[in-house]
Amino acid sequence: MQITDEEFSAITRRIHAETGIVIGDAKRSLLVARLSSRLDALRLPDFGAYARLLDSPDGGDERRALVSAITTNVTRFFREPHHFEALAAMAPHLLEKARSGTRIRIWSAGCSTGQEAFSIAATLLEHAPGIDQCDTRILATDIDPQVIETARQGRYDARQIGPETPDYFRRFVRTQADGTVKAMQNLAGLIRFEVLNLMDPWPFSGKFDIVFCRNVVIYFDPATRQRLWRRIAERIVPGGTLFIGHSERMDQDLATLYEPAGITRYRRTANDGTGDTRARGQPLETAGTGACHSEIH
Ligand SMILES: C[S@@+](CC[C@H](N)C(=O)[O-])C[C@H]1O[C@@H](n2cnc3c(N)ncnc32)[C@H](O)[C@@H]1O
Repeated sequence: MQITDEEFSAITRRIHAETGIVIGDAKRSLLVARLSSRLDALRLPDFGAYARLLDSPDGGDERRALVSAITTNVTRFFREPHHFEALAAMAPHLLEKARSGTRIRIWSAGCSTGQEAFSIAATLLEHAPGIDQCDTRILATDIDPQVIETARQGRYDARQIGPETPDYFRRFVRTQADGTVKAMQNLAGLIRFEVLNLMDPWPFSGKFDIVFCRNVVIYFDPATRQRLWRRIAERIVPGGTLFIGHSERMDQDLATLYEPAGITRYRRTANDGTGDTRARGQPLETAGTGACHSEIH
């Protein structure tokens, strides 16, 4: 199927406006391949008709389907294991905070089918046992409703437990009759999966101790990426951590907000971005009153 220059730019403009994702000319044939099945499903004659549908008031459903068709959802349990080793090293401190009654909040932003969030939850349960009895939550969000639906099921092909996955992970999943593995309640219960477009306003006001936003901004243009890092900085407590993807780097312009703390790991400074080092907003340390229901023996 052919796509004209005008159709290509109309559709890629729409994708950028909806998601922040930039699709350059080099990805033209990939775009055609991914969207041809949408045209077939909708019985549309060409990409011109498809672009008109996307721009029309009736195009809401298709704009959502477009997002599912063009996003790259590749993910793995314990992808980039050094991040989970770093999280494991933070676990005693998180547990101490949690047991003192402070809320612990972690965000997996751009979580795809959920393996990242389940890896975070398993790392906490293994290295901070009892933290699930305290006020601890992992929010896991993605723009694509289809991947969030898969994540909520918490059921995966057993072969997805690959060489990067530590042995202890098997204790948090149950093998099903059909050979798949399903996250057990103590693991799944820590996580809330929600559809969220990172370009939209965020429907929460609290701050996070740790944010994983990995392999998401790789598809964004530099200005969109920098805007997102700034918005995330507003939502991380001073001293909190941002993990980013292996091929991503923090912009130099944001050095006052984030300082390097390891491989693709950044510590949120106490700076609010205006030069005032008294961070705006209330850090979680003083905001939370969550109770810890059981002691560790
Ligand atoms: C390659 S996956 C990364 C998954 C996981 N973070 C990891 O590193 O394994 C990128 C995810 O970002 C999501 N994404 C892309 N643009 C987004 C946006 N504007 N808002 C929220 N999620 C987005 C995609 O739907 C996709 O699931």
